[in-house]
Amino acid sequence: MVTPKVFVTRKIPQPALDIISRSCEMDLWTDELPPPREVLLQRVKGCHGILTLLTDRIDEEVMDASPCLRVISNYAVGYDNIDLAAADKRRIQVGNTPGVLTETTADLAFSLLLAVARRIVEADRYTRSGEWQTWGPTLLLGQDVHHSTLGLVGFGRIGREVAKRARGFDMKVQYFDTVRNEQAETELGASFVDLETLLATSDFVSIHVPLTEATRHLIGERELRLMKPTAILVNTSRGPVVDQSALYASLRDGRIAGAGLDVFEHEPIAKNDPLLSLKNVVATPHIGSASVNTRTKMALMAAENLIEGVNCRPIPYKVNPEVDSDFRCCGLD
Ligand code: DGY
Repeated sequence: MVTPKVFVTRKIPQPALDIISRSCEMDLWTDELPPPREVLLQRVKGCHGILTLLTDRIDEEVMDASPCLRVISNYAVGYDNIDLAAADKRRIQVGNTPGVLTETTADLAFSLLLAVARRIVEADRYTRSGEWQTWGPTLLLGQDVHHSTLGLVGFGRIGREVAKRARGFDMKVQYFDTVRNEQAETELGASFVDLETLLATSDFVSIHVPLTEATRHLIGERELRLMKPTAILVNTSRGPVVDQSALYASLRDGRIAGAGLDVFEHEPIAKNDPLLSLKNVVATPHIGSASVNTRTKMALMAAENLIEGVNCRPIPYKVNPEVDSDFRCCGLD
């Protein structure tokens, strides 16, 4: 039997690379930046599996670069970079890394919420600038987080973890989702409202939905206009869920008070993007899951998906369950 061939599109934590290289012939892209498209197409050729990142667009062309591609293992919980319908059609198993990054991402969402509300980044810059002369009664006044109202758009794993954190701050928690979760409502003391009510009555709106055609620009000009002028928007999900130009106009014109953003419509966001000129924006470079422990756990899960997939076994964390027992399994005999 031939050893399975795999392409790993970036250097993920070493323990996972060690596991993969023990059972596969591993081709690893070691640059800091993602492989350019033509390199990706070239290196996928002849592979039975690929371990990809959200920066790699995995479409039909990539899938067809290797007729015996058996598995696409994405090093992320989100998989909007992968054409799932194309994978289904080819009976290729697709995996992700659910669960392990939930709390870490919720921590970041809450950090952004606090940072914008209490103007932490502005205050840090001010402290370092030498402008600070005395304790000031009106210096850098922000907003209270405690006893305010948090609106969660999306009440899946990450949204619910943010709700838990909010309870510690005595916040009133409300959520909108396409599916109501009454058990979680009771456990977390959250109430279900429609999106319009949520936007109109929340002091903080935090987004936790995956990017799909239904959620693209879910928060656009109309939705932003519903928000309170004192409200703060937090997005740690996917940039295109929010219409970024509408958000910029809303922040610039003071129609909402601030935003904490870990994700952007185009990543990396350009240095001269007008959004970054606003003082009421705290921006981070898509680091929701970026803790040492979490990134290692994600890598191990992605490695497990990859190895099970190339060996023609059902992968443990599969996002296309419709590709069940008859998944593609050619090329190793
Ligand atoms: C994900 O997993 O989808 C995050 O955006 C990156 O960890």
